[in-house]
Order: sequence, then structure tokens, then C-alpha cells
Amino acid sequence: MFRDRLRDAAVAIQAHLDTELKGLEPIPVVDAMTHATNGGKRIRGFLVLEGARLHGIDPKKAIWPACAIEAVHAYSLVHDDLPCMDDDDLRRGVPTVHIKWDEATAVLAGDALQTLAFEMVAHPAIGSGDVRADLVQSLAMASGARGMVLGQALDIAAETAATPLTLDQIIALQRGKTGALFEWSATAGARLAQADITPLQTYARALGLAFQIADDVLDVTSDAVTMGKATGKDADAGKATFVSLLGLDEAKRRADQLVTEACDALHVYNADADVLRDAARFVVTRTS
Ligand code: IPE
Ligand code: IPE
Ligand code: MG
Ligand code: MG
Ligand code: MG
Repeated sequence: MFRDRLRDAAVAIQAHLDTELKGLEPIPVVDAMTHATNGGKRIRGFLVLEGARLHGIDPKKAIWPACAIEAVHAYSLVHDDLPCMDDDDLRRGVPTVHIKWDEATAVLAGDALQTLAFEMVAHPAIGSGDVRADLVQSLAMASGARGMVLGQALDIAAETAATPLTLDQIIALQRGKTGALFEWSATAGARLAQADITPLQTYARALGLAFQIADDVLDVTSDAVTMGKATGKDADAGKATFVSLLGLDEAKRRADQLVTEACDALHVYNADADVLRDAARFVVTRTS
């Protein structure tokens, strides 16, 4: 069930993003945006669509915020891979944007993906001005210096910190870099319905952290062919991760504990949220 829903979400998101990008001038930056939005697990967009389904929202409306979060995520990856950040050549099994094109194109493609996301999340097809304003404001807060950018800045700063980060500092870092976009994704459906976001927010906080722990574990235990991106880089770069602080076994144990927390947070939705519970289990058992 979850696998089918994730696959359906990925297909719908890819088709919608492709249509939006085809409407732009065929310049190299737009080709790079198309490249950067191709593929990926689409877990964030899936969370938007699933949260919307839970609240009875028409998928024709929900597809806009689902594509918006995947555009913000793609932008964050294009910039994350730049030589001045993580310096990666491979993403989703293909060359990163700055390798296939150049750094200026990667910077601009990231910038334009971010603004495209806001264009999409403000789209009239979504509904009332109030709902769209709430989506725009919350996405801005999740993406910027209170959210993803803050986490990325803490991640880069930790590489050269004099002392290793504490557990609380690593949690704060990961809550920004990964958690903020997860939280927005899972709560967007409730926002579309102008419903209480609290249960999905609690779910996503645990899920986002579990997801990043799994990413850090896979960086140690997997390989580039399986992951479609370089592995073994976090320790080399001196990244502060759960694995660097707690070791593999304890990091995995924490991730499992967070999955239980995430599932428990969904009790108000009863069995309707079973697909989201399966998504939480997938996040820590995934192999790529
Ligand atoms: C990778 O995210 C970056 C992190 C926040 C760990 P994903 O693992 O969701 O990447 P794609 O979208 O599936 O490629
Ligand atoms: C990236 O985290 C998070 C964002 C892009 C916001 P990582 O640097 O761990 O992601 P990967 O491992 O390169 O996908
Ligand atoms: Mg990084
Ligand atoms: Mg990286
Ligand atoms: Mg990583």
C-alpha cells in the first residue's frame, strides 16, 4: 500500500514538475532545473499528498505544494553539492549540476527552483488567499534562516568546530537541515484544510530526525552505486552526526525509537494514517 502510494506520488509529482518547467525559456539554467528535479524518492511530496488525503483535500490542489516542497528540496541539494559546501559530483546516480554545467548555473538553478516553489505554493488553484498565504509564510520559515538554511549553516560550521557537538546541538542541527522541510511537508495537508497541524507536526519532528539518522547511517554502511551519491564522506569531512557521536548501533536504536514516536503521534487519525505509519518504518529500513 505505502509502496504503491509512494510510486503514484512520484509519478504525479514528476509529471507536474515537468509541465511547469516546460513552460519556461529553454535556457541552460532551466535545463539544469529539470535535471535537478528529476528522480529522487519523493518522500516529502508524498507526505504532502498523504496529509492532504487524510484531510479530504482534492489531489489537484495538493499537487502544487507537493511539487513546491520537492523544488525547495532539489534546490537545497544542488547547493549542498557545490564545492563550497559538500563538494559532491554524483546525485541520484547522475552528475551534479555544477559538474554537468558549471557553478554559476548551479547557483542560479538553485535560486530559481526556490522561487519556482513559491510561485507554485501561491497558485490560485490551491484555494483561498488565506490558505495560500499560510502555505507561503510557513514554507518560507521552514526553508530559510529559521529552518533548513540554519541547519545547513550549523552543519558546515560543525566541520571546523574546536570541540565535537553535543547531542542536543546535533538534534538542533538536524531539526533544521532535514526536519524543517519534513515538518512542512507533513503539515501542508492540514494547512490546506485549515485543520489542526499538531499531530502531523509531532509525527514529522520524529520522522525528520529518524530520516536524517538513516541518511547518516547509510553514509557509513552503504555504497555510491546503491545510494546514487557518494558515501563515506561525513567522517572525512568532520560532519557532526548521530553516528559520529553515538556510533552506528546507538544511532539505529534512536532512529527506531523515533519511528515509534512518529507512529504514536498519529492516533487521532486511527487506521486512516496507516500509510503514514508505513512511511515512518520505510524511512529507517530504506537502503537508498
Ligand atoms: C537527501 O534527501 C538529503 C537529506 C536531507 C538527507 P533524500 O534522501 O530524500 O533525497 P532524494 O530526494 O530521495 O534524492
Ligand atoms: C543535506 O544533508 C540536507 C540538505 C540539502 C538540506 P546531507 O549533506 O547529509 O545530504 P546528502 O547526504 O548530501 O544527500
Ligand atoms: Mg550537507
Ligand atoms: Mg551533502
Ligand atoms: Mg548525508
